[in-house]
Amino acid sequence: MSVPRALELSEREIQQLVDAAMERIIKFTATIEQQPIDLSNQADPQFVRSLAEPIPRTPTDFDSLLNIIFDQTAPYAINAASPGFMGYVPGGGIFHTAIADLIANTLNRYVGVSNVAPALNQLEANVIRWLCEIVDYPTTARGFLTSGGSLANLSALITARHVRLGEDFSKGVIYISNQAHHCLEKAARLAGFPKKNFRVLDVDDNYRLRPEQVYEEIVKDRAQGLTPFMIAASAGTTNSGAVDPLPELADLAKREKLWFHIDGAYGGLFRMTERGKQTLQGLERADSVVLDPHKTLFLPYGTGALLVRNGDDLKATHSSHADYMPTLQEDEYMMDFCELSPELTRPFRGLRIWLPFKMHGAQVFKDYLDEKLDLAQHIQNKIEQHPQLELLAPAELSILAFALNNTYESLEQRNAATKRLMELINSKQRVMLTGTLLKGVYAIRIAVLAFRTHQERMDMLWEDLNWALEALTDEH
Ligand SMILES: Cc1ncc(COP(=O)(O)O)c(C=O)c1O
Repeated sequence: MSVPRALELSEREIQQLVDAAMERIIKFTATIEQQPIDLSNQADPQFVRSLAEPIPRTPTDFDSLLNIIFDQTAPYAINAASPGFMGYVPGGGIFHTAIADLIANTLNRYVGVSNVAPALNQLEANVIRWLCEIVDYPTTARGFLTSGGSLANLSALITARHVRLGEDFSKGVIYISNQAHHCLEKAARLAGFPKKNFRVLDVDDNYRLRPEQVYEEIVKDRAQGLTPFMIAASAGTTNSGAVDPLPELADLAKREKLWFHIDGAYGGLFRMTERGKQTLQGLERADSVVLDPHKTLFLPYGTGALLVRNGDDLKATHSSHADYMPTLQEDEYMMDFCELSPELTRPFRGLRIWLPFKMHGAQVFKDYLDEKLDLAQHIQNKIEQHPQLELLAPAELSILAFALNNTYESLEQRNAATKRLMELINSKQRVMLTGTLLKGVYAIRIAVLAFRTHQERMDMLWEDLNWALEALTDEH
């Protein structure tokens, strides 16, 4: 039997692979702005099914594989890298992080244990410190990078559960608003809480939690012999961008001795801006905060973050020992991420933020975020002045929502017309918006967060919106 060598590439082979891939990557990035935004429903289902295949037994040349990726599959997608992508929660995916991934994956160093790659581990620890600085956390804070906001919220919930309830958590109760991201409900289920221990509370006219109602529920639950232990507030909901009243909720949590968690996956990093600091007052008082750099630092998908005010809480929850493990460090300033998080072996996520922050300085990210706040405000002003439109949720940060005026005979008719309006806007393929329900009213959301979105794309949105209003009238 011949000795296998095929996986060990020569320098020349590496160069050829990189060159061929880079040629396609450059072509792709050069046309991002002109590419249609949503071709996801245009992939022939039969073609999609034809991609299912048995394990390959023979080699295929690299160019053919690049064709499959770039020509035959990637185009049939929502183009979340587009400046016109304003649906769900955008980000865009800065290229620096793609390069960081290439480097990190090539190095393949083990950063979960400080002693194994101490200097690289310190770079990731720096990133955690920077994030702590952004939310004004004390030096006792620790944290770690996750694959995204959902897992960061899950880890927050498990940490709060462990620290506040110990092993018997069957009576623990969690409080969120009905606008909180659904990953929190999922996290509670995964963390072992039955549905009946999860309070999903109604919101005020601005879609925010009402602290007095949270308090009433806490009192009721205690009277039932339950153990309220966690309030999970939102610093920017996905639905409408609402920021819960953080200082009041922080006061309540402190008074009632509950763990105060903030899901800042969308909004938290706006704390880098002056306006964000104002809107997000109280963030620094949370016991734990989730941030999502793959949204609000524009990284490609794959990076969330959990920060915990008292780092010892993270360690108490995650620390675990085995004889075969390398020696863990004693220096309290250094971080063994395997001691603070659920993962042992994991990618070197720190470089994904470290590289672009070092290349540009944090100020550039602040400037981009400021621009998004301006753009959201600008389009909001126009919507407010438009005689056919009603602003349903103002932009506290960079997400807003609107609907057609309430001139219809029924809610169903109004909702259907607003939904149709959105479809018409999207049909132009220059912007992509997504909808939701706000207190039963169908709302078109505008989420301005992609780093490539600038004023000219907002002008296209405004043009397409006005065109769609006319087209809608013609349809009736
Ligand atoms: C407010 C909020 N929380 C949590 C999440 C979940 O984060 P991820 O999709 O990174 O898992 C999102 C995603 O959009 C979000 O907007």
